Amino acid sequence: MLNEINGLCGILTIPGDKSIAHRALLFAALGTGHSRIVGLGTGADIASTARCLRQLGVSIVSDGDVWQVDSPGFGGWQTPADTLDCGNSGTTMRLLTGLLAAHPGLHATLDGDTSLRQRPMARVVEPLTVMGAQIASSQGRPPLVVTGQALHGALHVLPVASAQVKSALLLAGLFAAGETVVEEPLESRDHTERLLAALGVALRTHGTRHAIAGRGPQAVLPPLGEVHVPGDPSSAAFAIVLAVLHPDADVTVQRVAQNPTRTGFLRVLERMGARVTIAARAQACGEPLGNLRARSSHLCATDIAAQEVPSLIDELPILALAAAAALGTSHFSGLAELRVKESDRLAAILRLLHLLGVPAESGADWLTIHGVGAAAEFDASRAAFRPGLDHRMAMTAEVANLVSPSALEIPGFAEAVASSWPEFTAALAGLAA
Ligand code: S3P
Repeated sequence: MLNEINGLCGILTIPGDKSIAHRALLFAALGTGHSRIVGLGTGADIASTARCLRQLGVSIVSDGDVWQVDSPGFGGWQTPADTLDCGNSGTTMRLLTGLLAAHPGLHATLDGDTSLRQRPMARVVEPLTVMGAQIASSQGRPPLVVTGQALHGALHVLPVASAQVKSALLLAGLFAAGETVVEEPLESRDHTERLLAALGVALRTHGTRHAIAGRGPQAVLPPLGEVHVPGDPSSAAFAIVLAVLHPDADVTVQRVAQNPTRTGFLRVLERMGARVTIAARAQACGEPLGNLRARSSHLCATDIAAQEVPSLIDELPILALAAAAALGTSHFSGLAELRVKESDRLAAILRLLHLLGVPAESGADWLTIHGVGAAAEFDASRAAFRPGLDHRMAMTAEVANLVSPSALEIPGFAEAVASSWPEFTAALAGLAA
């Protein structure tokens, strides 16, 4: 347990928002000319996007936290000599697939690690095929072999709320002929829409229906220019829940993105009685941000409804840990998408809770957690929790260790957290110093 005697306090800086960072790099590479991006962080997923773009002929040079991008523009992208290795990153693979599919004459293979190779790609391949794309997959999974075509617009009614699928289709639609419309069942994160506006591309949005006017594959876009990426709320969530569950904590996380399509976890924590406040509100990259202050709290149970899941999809593991330490029974619904993240997260959450001695049950898309009232009540288990290549499960297990007597071994921890926050352990340890 982390410094129970001295408590936990201080100010924490977190990596730049991963979703915005991928898009900032991609969109800088779509425009012709020079862009400067600040705050991308050191995560392996962002490095994967940068590596793939370099292979396509885009110059990307990082100097500390400042990245300089010089691009020939989308039309100047070239067939890569080797396979595009997307590593662990679904966002890299799905968004790039949409773009490459719309680049006539370009040929590329996209692959990834053992986790990414398990993830469903038919959700982008099938609708792109409707637009005229030519993509071969391994039964709907990576590797994907894309032969770029001149695409035509289409109407897509998505069966699941997915910002990656929405973005892949809108980006393909931008370089297609005619209009592309994407309708989602629930609102997913809207960073693509916001950053496209910065490139001068206007969408027509009505509720969860987005229309983009195709400009054809020869379209020339201006450089993205200078972009400052705000802190990642999905990373901040680990530090916030750490502070809330710790018996003596007062922690401030700086410059956290406050886009409402991402902050569902804050609304849930508020319902649970968590003492979390927002100050120093500002704007960066067309996104709201603020400093989050979190203090030790006594939590009560809450339910999470299917409608709010897209706004907290990546925070469900750490919210499950918060519910495990709360008083009472929490029920989370609409969790089917958790089965197809970097691991089967619903199964992984259940496994973790059981190792901590927390009673919990799950079904195909739901989870019920019988909270034990305080993190101090978690089992002092020394069992092994294997996160596989799932950064968010590794971090959730480590937060459990830091706030309770549990001493889970987490084999593969460093490799897993490298995806989004390689400095996770050192950053949190700094709060106890
Ligand atoms: C992301 C969208 C979400 C999220 C993922 C990042 C994005 O995935 O879970 O971590 O950057 O668009 P889905 O689109 O599969 O919901």
